[in-house]
Amino acid sequence: MVAVMSQLVGKRITLGVTGSIAAYKAADLISQLVKYGAEVQVVMTKGATQFITPTTLQVLSRRPVGIDIWAEGTNSVPSHIEIADTTDLLLVAPLTANVMAEFAHGLAPDLLTSIYLATRGPVLLCPAMNGKMYEHPATQANLKALRSRGHAIVEPAEGMLACGYEGLGKLAPVDEIVSRVLSILG
Ligand SMILES: Cc1cc2nc3c(=O)[nH]c(=O)nc-3n(C[C@H](O)[C@H](O)[C@H](O)COP(=O)(O)O)c2cc1C
Repeated sequence: MVAVMSQLVGKRITLGVTGSIAAYKAADLISQLVKYGAEVQVVMTKGATQFITPTTLQVLSRRPVGIDIWAEGTNSVPSHIEIADTTDLLLVAPLTANVMAEFAHGLAPDLLTSIYLATRGPVLLCPAMNGKMYEHPATQANLKALRSRGHAIVEPAEGMLACGYEGLGKLAPVDEIVSRVLSILG
């Protein structure tokens, strides 16, 4: 018997992917969200494209990936505003220390950070980084600021990090991220 996974039919998720070594896990995350019926609009930072190709994420999400804020297409509404206005959830996984800081301070130098500022719906953030970067007071202050705005956070996990350190900072398991998405949107 094939399980029916339709909880996310009709839901539009914008998935921000940033320049972490964990960016490859976005491929599995997209596959799972699509299986639940979600429409997934992927937005990558330039940094993320160093870790996984837009082609992979485009094929899995079945739609063009947004990267360049200047590639606005033919709409009269700028794409960053249109994406923000039409999304049910802004999910960022993995979230780098850098984009976390940009979100916390309201900087909008690229497509993903501009979408964040224009978003009024729920935001789910999944940080991933080296444990020292995660525990740095600057990162913790940024996380606190984002939490105080009401954004949901999936805490990173402990384990062996790609940089060789053992500790806190691994992207949370994809299943845990999907469960949080279902609890917000399902
Ligand atoms: C091999 C490698 C792995 C990295 N992994 C991470 C990471 O997991 N988390 C993080 O915050 N930064 C990581 N960085 C640093 C970011 O890629 C760097 O801060 C970059 O400017 C982030 O760009 P973005 O935040 O716009 O995507 C890594 C860099 C390299 C070279």
